[in-house]
Amino acid sequence: MLQGKNVVLGVTGGIAAYKACEIISGLKKIGANIDVIMTRSATEFITPYTFQSLTGNPAIVNMFQSPKYWDMEHISLAQKSDILLVAPATANIIGKVAAGIADDMLSTTIMASNRPVVFAPAMNTKMYENPAVQQNIQTLIKRGYHIIPPKGGILACGDEGQGKLQEVSVILEELQKIYRQELQGERKDLAGIRFLVTAGPTREIIDPVRFLSNHSTGKMGYEIAEAIVARGGEVKLISGPSSLSAPKGADFLSVETAEEMFEAVKDAYPKADVLIKSAAVSDYRPKIREAQKVKKESREGEIQLTLVRNPDILLEMGKIKAPGKIHVGFAAETEKIIEHSKEKIQRKNLDFIVANDVTEEGAGFAHSTNIVYFIDQNGEYSKTEKVEKSAIAHEILDRVLEKKFPADK
Ligand code: CTP
Repeated sequence: MLQGKNVVLGVTGGIAAYKACEIISGLKKIGANIDVIMTRSATEFITPYTFQSLTGNPAIVNMFQSPKYWDMEHISLAQKSDILLVAPATANIIGKVAAGIADDMLSTTIMASNRPVVFAPAMNTKMYENPAVQQNIQTLIKRGYHIIPPKGGILACGDEGQGKLQEVSVILEELQKIYRQELQGERKDLAGIRFLVTAGPTREIIDPVRFLSNHSTGKMGYEIAEAIVARGGEVKLISGPSSLSAPKGADFLSVETAEEMFEAVKDAYPKADVLIKSAAVSDYRPKIREAQKVKKESREGEIQLTLVRNPDILLEMGKIKAPGKIHVGFAAETEKIIEHSKEKIQRKNLDFIVANDVTEEGAGFAHSTNIVYFIDQNGEYSKTEKVEKSAIAHEILDRVLEKKFPADK
């Protein structure tokens, strides 16, 4: 998403300033062009030369320094940038922007920018919790700035609490998400389309304390739901157990077992134009759900667990698929991806399938990235690079739109 884009990285004076190097290297891997603007106090922690060497661009500190490498006006970086990230962001820069002060290159650039500006605060816990800082953060949010909250832990000063710069991987992921949402937000191309999305694993109960499940975290389905909301669509998200929070704006329903998910999908299906089935549904469940905890003493040696087949939700919905509806399936495979997926498209009456080889590095469960194949009814397929799941979510929605659905949109 940020490939070939211009990111302005503002570095302010905190002990976490050195982490900006890691951010730069992550951004470079994505293929972004980076310009660093430092505050005077940031130079006490790290030198402009470090950033210059890492980015290949001069790091700007002084508003009036020689414009050898960049345009004359002090707002030129604001105009050139696609997104601005301030990391680490001190209480001082947050306070200055909230108060409308523009007295150095960074605060001036932020003020002159009409692009998304993202702050990743890092400071002492007591400072972070100070009502003035909290109020300034709220002011920034109200004005449309983005905040990536710090995490908790033991800080450089020895205090414990919230205030540590967020993990660089999280900052990069959030930054890309914010950039994408800003872009997509401008195009509400899913308005009027109703989506039914399933996510997460299912849990098949053995007894009150045990269950069978799988490694799905639900991330893919939640990203799809978020993307739908961002693009103006309506979404009902039916999720198996997941630690993720329900996406804002989605009609959310939590279920536990495959049978519960099946009932919920049948209920919601008539109101949906598109069914996206990203849940990792357990194919089997214990034949008997014990009412009491199974005790070792009551069973000698080995025990047997008899499993019975769960309904194949996607297959069943495929049988009653109404004309004009779009069904998108997922496939987690470990071999013969295309062959197995083509068979699933036919058997489950799908419009297309999103398949991944869960053995591939950076793909499948519990990763923020994935590598997928999009396979069509006619067997044509394309493979993505290793990209963020949120990018895959948008690609899926683009493909749904390509199916020109619905006709009266
Ligand atoms: N699916 C479903 N209900 C099930 C099993 C799977 O709705 N009981 C859906 C999944 O949500 C996914 C698709 O079917 O969209 C394919 O799931 P996958 O586990 O890859 O395939 P299965 O059909 O279960 O076949 P197998 O496990 O034999 O590969």
